[in-house]
Amino acid sequence: MPVEPCSIYGEPIVEGYRLWDPFRSKLAVLLLKLEGRRDIGLYPDSRVLYLGAATGTTVSHVSDILQGGIVYAVEFSPRAMRDLLRLAESRENIVPILADAARPELYSALVEPVDMIYQDVAQRNQAEIAARNARRYLKPGGTLVFMMKTRSIDVTASPRDVYAREIEELKGLDVLEVLDLLPFHQDHWAVLAKKV
Ligand SMILES: C[S@@+](CC[C@H](N)C(=O)[O-])C[C@H]1O[C@@H](n2cnc3c(N)ncnc32)[C@H](O)[C@@H]1O
Repeated sequence: MPVEPCSIYGEPIVEGYRLWDPFRSKLAVLLLKLEGRRDIGLYPDSRVLYLGAATGTTVSHVSDILQGGIVYAVEFSPRAMRDLLRLAESRENIVPILADAARPELYSALVEPVDMIYQDVAQRNQAEIAARNARRYLKPGGTLVFMMKTRSIDVTASPRDVYAREIEELKGLDVLEVLDLLPFHQDHWAVLAKKV
């Protein structure tokens, strides 16, 4: 008999599925906007490196998708990690890692080459963090999904100028598409790139 899913962070269960709210998760917005027209490397058996896991809101949905895969969930806030650890206790496919994503060498003993990197860290050097992790962990042909908060980088420049500048940092990656996350998230862009 199928197991009834349980709510992780208060989200309702609708007809046997956990509601994935685009106002709470940028990955939900991206999937809504793409409508299946692009492969982002998220399959049931994928290996995913998730940078900026926070308390695990979006990680929990990635974990639902990865039935035979694994999500390596990196977060540097000990407070957020407490909730993430609780979530990982109930799910075998989440590996929580308390570390700074800007120093990917620190978790090389824990992380294998991955099919997808998902990053949502809202830091000034977010493109550099994404590029470093992609160089080390992304398989050739793998996908980087990088949620860029333009106001974290420069509040004075226009968002389009900021993201054009940031994309230059993603050396070794082919940028496929940049989508805004409106109307769900202001000043946020999803950058999709492939490792060549
Ligand atoms: C916007 S929140 C992430 C929300 C989460 N992705 C979700 O959808 O559930 C950003 C998170 O990134 C974490 N973070 C920021 N910089 C980081 C870094 N250099 N290394 C690891 N985590 C970082 C913050 O502590 C925060 O929890």
